[in-house]
Amino acid sequence: MSASYEVRDGVAVITLNNPPVNGLGYETRRAVAEGIERAQADAAVKAVVLCGAGRAFSGGADIREFGSPKATAEPNLISLINLVEASDKPVVAALHGTAMGGGLELALGCHYRVAAADTNVALPEVKIGLVPGAGGTQRLPRAIGVEAALNMIVSGEPVKSELLAQIPGQVLFQKIVEGDLVAGAIAYANEIAAARPLPRVRDRKSSHPQGDAYFQFARNTVKAMAKQFPAPARCVDCVEQSTKLPFDVGMVYEREAFVALMLTPECKALRHAFFAERAASKIPDVPDDTPVRQVKKLAVIGAGTMGGGIAMNFLNAGIPVVMLEMKQEALDKGVATIRKNYEAQVKKGKLKADKYEQRMSLLSTTLNYADLKDADMVIEAVFEDLGVKEKVFTTLDEVMKPGAILASNTSTLDMNRIAAFTKRPQDVVGTHFFSPANVMKLLEVVRAEKTAKDVLATVMQLGKKIRKTCVVSGVCDGFIGNRMIEQYSRQAGFLLEEGATPAQVDRAIEKFGFAMGPFRMGDLAGNDIGWAIRKRRYVEKPHMRYSKTADLLCELGRYGQKTGAGWYDYQAGKRDAIPSKLVEDMIAKHRAELGITPRKIGDEEIVHRLVYALVNEGAKIVEEGIASKASDIDMVYLTGYGFPLHRGGPMCYADTQGLFNVVQAMKRFQRNPHDDAAFWEPAPLLAKLAAEGKTFS
Ligand code: NAI
Repeated sequence: MSASYEVRDGVAVITLNNPPVNGLGYETRRAVAEGIERAQADAAVKAVVLCGAGRAFSGGADIREFGSPKATAEPNLISLINLVEASDKPVVAALHGTAMGGGLELALGCHYRVAAADTNVALPEVKIGLVPGAGGTQRLPRAIGVEAALNMIVSGEPVKSELLAQIPGQVLFQKIVEGDLVAGAIAYANEIAAARPLPRVRDRKSSHPQGDAYFQFARNTVKAMAKQFPAPARCVDCVEQSTKLPFDVGMVYEREAFVALMLTPECKALRHAFFAERAASKIPDVPDDTPVRQVKKLAVIGAGTMGGGIAMNFLNAGIPVVMLEMKQEALDKGVATIRKNYEAQVKKGKLKADKYEQRMSLLSTTLNYADLKDADMVIEAVFEDLGVKEKVFTTLDEVMKPGAILASNTSTLDMNRIAAFTKRPQDVVGTHFFSPANVMKLLEVVRAEKTAKDVLATVMQLGKKIRKTCVVSGVCDGFIGNRMIEQYSRQAGFLLEEGATPAQVDRAIEKFGFAMGPFRMGDLAGNDIGWAIRKRRYVEKPHMRYSKTADLLCELGRYGQKTGAGWYDYQAGKRDAIPSKLVEDMIAKHRAELGITPRKIGDEEIVHRLVYALVNEGAKIVEEGIASKASDIDMVYLTGYGFPLHRGGPMCYADTQGLFNVVQAMKRFQRNPHDDAAFWEPAPLLAKLAAEGKTFS
């Protein structure tokens, strides 16, 4: 039974009981409907209280049902709300913890609502590209006024119950209950049991004194903020219609908007990302109930760019950090950078001064490995050099307590070899943060051959605690993200050789939705970094052809913004990328040396070569088991590489394009004599799915 029924003090209490958040799945909806009917039939019952078991009233639709026939099976949510609203006996919703989406819409169909303080109330549908679909856009404005409702619906953000209860004239909450919520709700139900007619939110008026001007203003604001996403503007439309149409017609309007949005690629991409994020935290052979190790204190080796950022994540989460360096000056510099970052946040009003001090008080420093002996986990972020890492890991093996987790932030080195520097490879794992480590959401958790399951489970849980999106990667050069980006960069180089300019490539991929094209990105990050990697990588892989344009650029000392010139020219103190005649000449000269006659390359070819390069490499990564599913790759690209969210990630984009078409494009690229035909051989997994008419998801 996913909702229970009992009669207390003349009041029927229906308790939603579908852990973890009382999602309104089919069984739950049925049980509530049965409870309502039972209450009508029982002469001893004067009123009904609808509440939630556990930590929430209801989080809304049961996401486990999405896409299955159960999601819409009768009684569907709208039918259930109608049933509740039509009850002859008053129904009081009692909200606590969370009342979101369908949960809030159900409550709005009740005659009265009471809430515990601190309840998170929201209509978050916009976050998955939708408008609320069970009357939210029609009832919420009638309950709390147009402006407050529109803000909630367009942002999807939760608002605390006690704040909502303060809105003048609102009927969302008749009472904020202190103490026992259900007892308070029963007492309230007895107070209002005899009152007739029963108040219904649908019977109220939704209006705004300057309606047309207000909605025009809202529409302009939303348009500027929502960019490619259609849902926020539709939210405005729906709320506007609540002021113009009779309730039932407004409901039809909302439904049509909901159904139309459901079919848009943007909505599909957002729903994909929503589920991909949840799926990423699941590792096929590591069950949810795998015991985890306690991590109460962390050590970080290396106080450089990454070490400092990594430390901040843990300080923010209240976990003490000890940072170790070789020299006092390096420690001082590292700590000063952390202070500077926090001070910038304090200045912007994003961090309170006392919180800043509290976080800094959790940080200690040392030059002595003996001071790490009580740490439960250590993350190494020293120079990217296997010899240096070997020294660090053999020392850690000697000093760290048994059971401590030994992690490396390496971005390119072989985690199996690093693990083998110790006598406890089962405790060794990769934690690949992205720069700036205190800002970027992505954390690649690198599973070496011998990494223990409980170590993985612990790191995944810890990652969540420091608010990262964790994706597990097997061991390979570059792991998931950087291994794929290499192919993207190679294509960007070939495009220059064949006739495109850096600005043209950047513009095309930025129009597709990337925040920054590969060349502007290179100038920002420093072109010398890739140069150093290529020097090593292409010695190891002489068969892998790449464009030398980027090396030629570095030979000119054009490392990017930090040297005042890169793919683009820069004016002192400014970040605007100005196309460079010198670079274009350099490319033209190189092109001539290669004997290539330049051709005009269209935006579509640019986008497809860059993105499909990610897709083909991604398919190989899934096939090799480096990633356990294609959606993990999408998560890596959405959270670590600025892939446009409305496209859902490279693999999701390929699915939307149709894998058959993707394969055909790759075959076309194979016929281009200046490209890498061997690379464009469709990965076997991709070829197979395309042939079977299937998708990655
Ligand atoms: P960095 O050069 O800024 O910092 C390295 C720090 O380690 C320096 O402060 C150095 O004094 C210290 N160090 C070197 N040897 C040491 C030793 N034996 N014991 C104690 N401290 C030592 O380097 P960065 O950029 O922070 O990189 C660190 C690691 O993170 C590397 O493995 C790198 O590949 C990886 N990484 C870097 C990213 C980036 O964008 N910079 C992104 C992801 C990973």
